[in-house]
Amino acid sequence: MRVGVLTGGGDCPGLNAVIRAIVRRGVAEYGHDFVGFRDGWRGPLDNHTCALGIPQVRGILPRGGTILGSSRTNPFMVDGGVERITDNLRAEDVDALIAIGGEDTLGVATRLADLGVNVVGVPKTIDNDLSGTDFTFGFDTAVNIATEAIDRLHTTAESHHRVLVVEVMGRHAGWIALHSGLAGGANVILIPEQPFDIDKVCGLVERRFQLQYAPIIVVAEGAVPAEGTMATVAGELDAFGHVRLGGIGDRLAQEIEKRTGKEARAVVLGHIQRGGTPTAFDRWLATRFGLHAVAAVHDGDFGKMVALRGTDIVRVDLIEGTGALKTVDPERYAEAEVLFG
Ligand code: F6P
Repeated sequence: MRVGVLTGGGDCPGLNAVIRAIVRRGVAEYGHDFVGFRDGWRGPLDNHTCALGIPQVRGILPRGGTILGSSRTNPFMVDGGVERITDNLRAEDVDALIAIGGEDTLGVATRLADLGVNVVGVPKTIDNDLSGTDFTFGFDTAVNIATEAIDRLHTTAESHHRVLVVEVMGRHAGWIALHSGLAGGANVILIPEQPFDIDKVCGLVERRFQLQYAPIIVVAEGAVPAEGTMATVAGELDAFGHVRLGGIGDRLAQEIEKRTGKEARAVVLGHIQRGGTPTAFDRWLATRFGLHAVAAVHDGDFGKMVALRGTDIVRVDLIEGTGALKTVDPERYAEAEVLFG
């Protein structure tokens, strides 16, 4: 069998570990051939390929990013995009495709699978917002990076009696904010699922200062104030219709400073959360996803996504992963709220 592999959407630590596991098992156990498609769905769309075999995957397990490149290309937004993809897969003699991505990349995979393309998905996102799987790889690395930042910010915030607002990624789901905020002992955690009350946030800030500590506020980039309470700025849209976010941390710091009179600064972690080497957990998860994805291809079990359930890797229908986002439910948030202030 000849198998194509692509990585789409925002990059994420562990992508190379998946690619390596796919190729290592595919070659050694099944005798498959592989071809890499460059830069997400742009690869099969433009027939932009690269060699993918044992030599290409040697040494890449701990390396961040993706050796295949990535993009947020949406072939369904391109005239004749689907036909171009199926023609190019045929021209390359590709029997099956493994798509490694988040909601957008796997959303495209779901639609292509419905149209008869042999595709298996691997769930990836630092946001951990894909349904059907307990965790996506990349999330643990992002949480560890954010937690280390929060630890460091505590000491400088206290030295200067300042409020420090840490903006982390997560446009629709607050998983990174919630996990790193809990792990780092943040005083307030703000997530997209729960519009925040700026008066309440300022009250918690003041309480924290009364206790002789300096407050650290962790805010997900997609967090929003309760309607009509604070102005925000809208950004431009990408090919999948997502707003480019960023800026809530600054807005929040300004508003807190204005309302409480305490000096407040914002730190935006941004792409630092996505770069660099994956944690051991992410290497473990990514490797197992890769091993199981190529097994699904070998079994001809298409239209599936590999998923983590407990400690088992299972196969679920692609739509289970992409049909609805996995967001933080109110009970989970309430659990963290006990520690605010
Ligand atoms: O989807 C993962 C993610 O890192 C989000 O948390 C973030 O909103 C987005 O990607 C940023 O994307 P880009 O790197 O394209 O600006």
